[in-house]
Amino acid sequence: MLKDKIVVVTGGAGLIGRSFAKTIAEQGGVAVIADRDESGGRAAVEAIQSQGYSGQVIYGKLDITSKQSINDLIADLHQRYGSIDAVVNNAYPRTKQYGRKFEDVTFEDFNQNVSLHLGGYFLTAQQFAAYFKTQGSGNIINMASIYGVIAPRFDIYDGTAMTMPVEYAAIKSAVIHLTKYMARYFQRDNIRVNCISPGGILDGQPTEFLERYNSRASSKGMLDPADLQGVLLFLLGNMSTYVNGQNIVVDDGWSL
Ligand SMILES: NC(=O)c1ccc[n+]([C@@H]2O[C@H](COP(=O)([O-])OP(=O)(O)OC[C@H]3O[C@@H](n4cnc5c(N)ncnc54)[C@H](O)[C@@H]3O)[C@@H](O)[C@H]2O)c1
Repeated sequence: MLKDKIVVVTGGAGLIGRSFAKTIAEQGGVAVIADRDESGGRAAVEAIQSQGYSGQVIYGKLDITSKQSINDLIADLHQRYGSIDAVVNNAYPRTKQYGRKFEDVTFEDFNQNVSLHLGGYFLTAQQFAAYFKTQGSGNIINMASIYGVIAPRFDIYDGTAMTMPVEYAAIKSAVIHLTKYMARYFQRDNIRVNCISPGGILDGQPTEFLERYNSRASSKGMLDPADLQGVLLFLLGNMSTYVNGQNIVVDDGWSL
């Protein structure tokens, strides 16, 4: 489905990014694992390549909060392949203090996390859009979240050390609107901008949390990263040519 398409996945060394890179390689594309974590990124490349998919996976050093770093990656890929088809804004930068309860979040924490995550998504999308405009085509996919769509259900975190950080709600709702803004801004430039809002992804969360979370879903509850691949392929491929400025929720009905 993605034969020879060059797709950059920011945060490609992480939980969802690795799975996206594998899906792209499986479908014959070139997945660029673009991550600040070089050893994790290279390990992910090796693990995926050893599966022998028809596509390719490569590592590209990237810090989404640095304009220079983003443009170095774009220049490197342009030199190597002559074009870039898509970027998936999927990195997840956060400060050491991230994850505190509402009362404990300082003004500085709030600003830093919004700056790194929302600011990084903006900067990456802005720089890739400039390249795509020159190229005459492009596809931007932003990772948002159900927590950018609905208010948190705080009761599911009772008795655990987890919470739903206030910065995350502010960032992800803004990512959804940034998507619409950019889709409109580049409407005549053959650049599509859409976003995916996943529900919770399984990653060793405590059992009591999982039980409470899963009881509100339709059948599975917390999803595996591979459960997002259908929507990723749809948005990257030609079947979604006329889908622009949309947010697609993948959460097993949790946010209903
Ligand atoms: N995991 C979930 O339950 C879940 C649910 C909904 C949405 N999401 C969203 O999906 C995306 C990926 O989440 P994840 O759980 O795979 O995250 P993760 O923490 O597993 O991976 C994030 C990756 O981003 C990289 N990164 C951090 N800062 C960076 C920077 N400045 N530049 C480049 N790379 C950087 C990290 O090195 C890491 O490899 C995020 O947008 C997240 O908000 C996740």
